[in-house]
Amino acid sequence: MRYEKLSEPGKIGNLTLKNRIIIPPINNNYTRAAYMTDESIDFYVSKAEGGASLVIIEATSVDYPRSRSVLNPAIDDEKYIPGIKAIADGCHKYGAKAMVQLSHVGRQSRVMVTGMDPVAPSAISSASPMYPDTPKVLTVEDIHEIAEKFGIGAEIAKKAGLDGVELILGHGYLVNQFLCPYSNFRTDEYAGFMGGVKFIREIVESIQKHCGKDYPIIGRMNADDFIKENGNNIVDGELLAQELEKMGVAALSVSGGMRDSELSFNDHSSGQPKGAWISLGDRIKRTVNIPVIIVKRFDPDLAEQTLKAGQADFIAFGKQCICDSGFANKILEDRVEDMLPCTSCCQGCYDELWMKLPIECTVNPRVGKKIADLKERDEKKRSPKKVLIVGAGPSGCESALELARMGHKVTIIDKNNFLGGSYFYCSYTELKAEVAGVFKYFGHELKKLGVDVRLNTVFTKALVEEGKYEVVIDATGSEFVKPAIEGINSEMVITPKEALDGSHDVGKYVAVIACSYGCAWTCRKVSNEIPDDVVGLKTSETYACGAGHAAADVAEDMADKGKKVVVLTERDEFVPGMGFTNRGNMFKRFFPKNVSVSTKTKVKKVIDGGLLCEKNGVEFKVSADTVIMSTKLKAVNCIEDQVKDLKVKYYKVGDCEKIGNALKAFHAGFDLADKI
Ligand SMILES: Cc1cc2nc3c(=O)[nH]c(=O)nc-3n(C[C@H](O)[C@H](O)[C@H](O)COP(=O)(O)O)c2cc1C
Ligand code: SF4
Repeated sequence: MRYEKLSEPGKIGNLTLKNRIIIPPINNNYTRAAYMTDESIDFYVSKAEGGASLVIIEATSVDYPRSRSVLNPAIDDEKYIPGIKAIADGCHKYGAKAMVQLSHVGRQSRVMVTGMDPVAPSAISSASPMYPDTPKVLTVEDIHEIAEKFGIGAEIAKKAGLDGVELILGHGYLVNQFLCPYSNFRTDEYAGFMGGVKFIREIVESIQKHCGKDYPIIGRMNADDFIKENGNNIVDGELLAQELEKMGVAALSVSGGMRDSELSFNDHSSGQPKGAWISLGDRIKRTVNIPVIIVKRFDPDLAEQTLKAGQADFIAFGKQCICDSGFANKILEDRVEDMLPCTSCCQGCYDELWMKLPIECTVNPRVGKKIADLKERDEKKRSPKKVLIVGAGPSGCESALELARMGHKVTIIDKNNFLGGSYFYCSYTELKAEVAGVFKYFGHELKKLGVDVRLNTVFTKALVEEGKYEVVIDATGSEFVKPAIEGINSEMVITPKEALDGSHDVGKYVAVIACSYGCAWTCRKVSNEIPDDVVGLKTSETYACGAGHAAADVAEDMADKGKKVVVLTERDEFVPGMGFTNRGNMFKRFFPKNVSVSTKTKVKKVIDGGLLCEKNGVEFKVSADTVIMSTKLKAVNCIEDQVKDLKVKYYKVGDCEKIGNALKAFHAGFDLADKI
């Protein structure tokens, strides 16, 4: 058996888990007024149905609303039991265990989100612009009260039928603020690292008082805060692990970083290597006798290898469980080709979480939708039609998949010899290599569903007539428009595709021209109102179009290949519509890679050896061997005229209908299928 170790049962405290695959906590903003909704219940139960052995409910407030940072659920009152119980019962039905992460965020919140002052060990705000409010200092009495609230939360969890609790001791949240000298300037008994350990001991004792000593507790700890100075590192991590074991904690979940980190915790993106924290987990495991869970960008092979090497006892799959709830069974039944791989793009999940939107998934539009609604859609009686889809990019592939599932007879054609359209080119970068896996999955699924996939095929009217198609879907995508810059036809100017496919020798100095130049679509900002019980929160959806993302990807890829890269944009900011966690991390990565971004810089002319630019009213030369233009996108629209006089229903989808990004395209493909 290929995934033998992952399939083995294991123990956490007195619990036997049926395999080694764990779902870590994932805040999702599906709650309303801190109660679990149908979407919340579906989210967790679907992971249990999907084969995981333990499902850990997201960071849940033990002191609501003060201890929330997004739309967290609460567990400080028995009125929340029914929703939590539905999750516990649902998970048990599938043979999985269920726990909840008990959380207090401390200073990692703000008045805007809670309506009250954040609290912390000391009156120092986080360095992150997300949490600008200066926190109120907790008194010794307040600290005892919070420890008691953790106990009450655990008792509610137990009453709701959960099998244990996880404590969030890292990620910059309240307990971490005590442990970390960077944020703890107290001089009393809660001073410094050991003051933090004392606080944890009180929390654990309170849980043991309320639930008994054998109620399993997992400690989710930072093995390293990733703070340059005055943070805790792996040595402190090893010390903390041993202290937790002494307190009676049943297992350790090894994580790291916080908002203030140089290597940010919130970089769940593909900017982090796969299995980035294996060595941290391995070191911790060598110092304790309780089980260790490791997380961070695992794929099935790496997970199996890590368990085999004895570096961990369990593997947690975070974003993979968002993308494909049934992934665990696919691993355990040795059919990973059926698994939709997560690309770690964070666009649909983490970015949306912090915009206070319900999380989605870029490559799986089903995520976040009620299972009952999906079932109704899947079971709706439809009259099967013959459908031709022109263009096998994200929207075309997604439409094909859904239409075939609905029973239509589908043919999909593409002029390229691969699936994925323009989006596929980003898989040539190290950062987005996983995108290739997504289209491998689509190829596999479309074949299984009997879709006729024809590559290297150009659209003709004759094709429609011969195939007697009733519906034609135009998913022909978009192309770059050359900006009106003198000299733009020079041989030194290429598109991102040409830079990425390696067909050009780009030399040493590369300039990327990004955004604006008449682009009307880049970086849309759309306001939404999300009902919120506490502060009537307003939120806004922002998104960058494909050109903005391509500019960022190609700039980083060129730097990874050792080129010296500058990005020039007319705008005040570079891709302001990119989700802000992704955008923040992009700049964190750009800095050590020497990618320089120059805003308010107008490119006036392509000249010998570079570009003539204007900034601050002054003209000057920027040197470059190659110029990559990633400015305006326009719909290709290549078949509308040809289809006009044919007796078929004609639809446009994806960029060809409205310029957007990959998430918008996959989701548009899904929505269109229901209208056929
Ligand atoms: C949308 C989202 C929400 C998350 N919410 C939580 C949370 O509530 N508590 C927590 O400790 N970690 C949270 N995390 C971190 C995950 O549990 C996990 O550690 C992280 O995604 C890295 O694992 P992965 O690379 O397998 O995704 C969240 C991550 C994501 C992407
Ligand atoms: S949005 Fe991206 S990172 Fe998040 S689950 Fe989907 S593919 Fe993975």
